[in-house]
Amino acid sequence: MNAIDIRNKYLNFFKEHGHAVIPSAPLIPENDPSVLFTTAGMQPLVPYLLGEKHPQGKRLTDYQKCVRTVDIDEVGDNRHLTYFEMLGNWSLGDYFKEESIKMSFEFLTKELEIPVEKLSVTVFAGDEDAPRDEESAKIWKQVGMAENHIYYFGKEDNWWIAGEEGPCGPDTEMFYDTGKEACGPNCNPSCSCGKYVEIWNNVFMEYYKNKDGYTKLKQKNVDTGLGLERMNMLLQGKETPYDTEIFKPIMDELTKIAKNDYIQSKRIVAEHLRSSMMIICDGGRPSNVDRGYVLRRLIRRMTRHLNKLGIDLNELPKLIELNIEVLSQMYPELVKNKETIKQVLIEEKDKFVKTLTHGEKEFEKVIKKMELENKKTIDGHSVFKLYDTYGFPPEVTGDLAKEQGYEIDMTEFNKLYKEHQEKSRLGAEQKFKGGLADQNEQTIAYHTATHLLHKALQIVLGEHATQKGSNITTERLRFDFAHPQKVTKEQLEQIEKIVNEQINRNLPVTCEEMTVEEAKKSGAMGLFENKYGDKVKVYTIGDFSKEICGGPHVTNTKGMGTFKIKKEEASSSGVRRIKAVLIK
Ligand code: SER
Repeated sequence: MNAIDIRNKYLNFFKEHGHAVIPSAPLIPENDPSVLFTTAGMQPLVPYLLGEKHPQGKRLTDYQKCVRTVDIDEVGDNRHLTYFEMLGNWSLGDYFKEESIKMSFEFLTKELEIPVEKLSVTVFAGDEDAPRDEESAKIWKQVGMAENHIYYFGKEDNWWIAGEEGPCGPDTEMFYDTGKEACGPNCNPSCSCGKYVEIWNNVFMEYYKNKDGYTKLKQKNVDTGLGLERMNMLLQGKETPYDTEIFKPIMDELTKIAKNDYIQSKRIVAEHLRSSMMIICDGGRPSNVDRGYVLRRLIRRMTRHLNKLGIDLNELPKLIELNIEVLSQMYPELVKNKETIKQVLIEEKDKFVKTLTHGEKEFEKVIKKMELENKKTIDGHSVFKLYDTYGFPPEVTGDLAKEQGYEIDMTEFNKLYKEHQEKSRLGAEQKFKGGLADQNEQTIAYHTATHLLHKALQIVLGEHATQKGSNITTERLRFDFAHPQKVTKEQLEQIEKIVNEQINRNLPVTCEEMTVEEAKKSGAMGLFENKYGDKVKVYTIGDFSKEICGGPHVTNTKGMGTFKIKKEEASSSGVRRIKAVLIK
């Protein structure tokens, strides 16, 4: 049995149990700028879990293409993948625990023929938010699970939610015993020693969580997810997914053409190549922000490890073709988009090769400076600048430094990197200004109004009321900002009044380029302070507002219209959202 057989068995099984087979949603979520990639099968189904009617009914099943980016740096070990496929089945207010557990058990033991002794399950132990899940435990016992294979755990193990807010609930997780020796007398499925591997998660979604706590959903749902690559690996008795048919041909080819035999590098190339191909196939393109940046990182990391393996980069087209061939049965769309995938990957690889060349030159400059100053450790800022501005990875800087008898300050680098990561995360989660997709007279005016609003909020509510996100269409502006409670009617009126006063002063809007340090000194508000050494644009509106921003803006506030707040509401914990319009 291989991956495609497992997928087909799964979809057929649930079809026979009354589920409609729906197509995988694209990896890049439609109409949802708040997340980078689809990370779970339930993600595109959220409206239906909340009660909207799904056109295909109350029982659904699919395979979902997923990318999870938190683990990028772990890829290369024996289990982390950025791209993976999740098989899932859903009950939208239809069956609940009993039928769900019975179907899972039947699928695992009858269809996949896993001996019941090799299975263990966990259920929710209960707490102040939800009761102990005795019901699931009882059903597991009924179907034939031995009592000592049923474990109870708390929220950290047996509760599932995507992020901070949304539909959620206790889950029951199924584990496969690899037969490895237990790491000790207390070894159990929550242990990470590798004996037990989680294979399936059934979430009993009957709650909704927001910052105020938990409420019951309109309907009781089931959301399940089974990781295909992992199941495939276990059923084939392999140690890693790289030993299965999904990766083996590419791993073998890499072994054949590599001068250096680094297993981790081979895995990284194989994994990142597949992930990048899948992302490009679904419309992703490399860039410096958000998901484009994730793709860029994947391709760069892959290129670097091809170098490390001593593989001629001109082999890349062949590797892409081989990978498409291997995956064509699972993802026919790869074949259709073959030329685009090749073009995007090769162009990005070429760009990175240039970057590496520039970076090496810049590195030499840093070394000269070090010699002059008689220092032996390259400071974190220089390492970060090489990374951020020249795309020069710190490992490469470290290697080169070592060759010349220098060290690098990784602690300082990591600190700067973390700050940068945090900014990118914020940037990715919320579309900040500068990300205007559609720029016309109206959106430009809204953009300027956003700056006026930001300043007015700080005047009326206080300096804590900083921007947390912004989204502009031709119809309205939407602005998220930090504030712990509801903004009162009086405050809203005051804010409106200030913005309108400024508009009516016919203030000129000017733009200057400066370094981040200079911008900070000038008192500009802004979110990108940590882009070390970069030049930024600062927009000034008369004597009223000064903000770091990519623009564009109106040249004068004259004629922008009358500013009106339409709505003030909670956006997330500690963040409020205002929607406003300009009336001409
Ligand atoms: N949403 C759950 C998960 O991702 C089950 O599909 O594990």
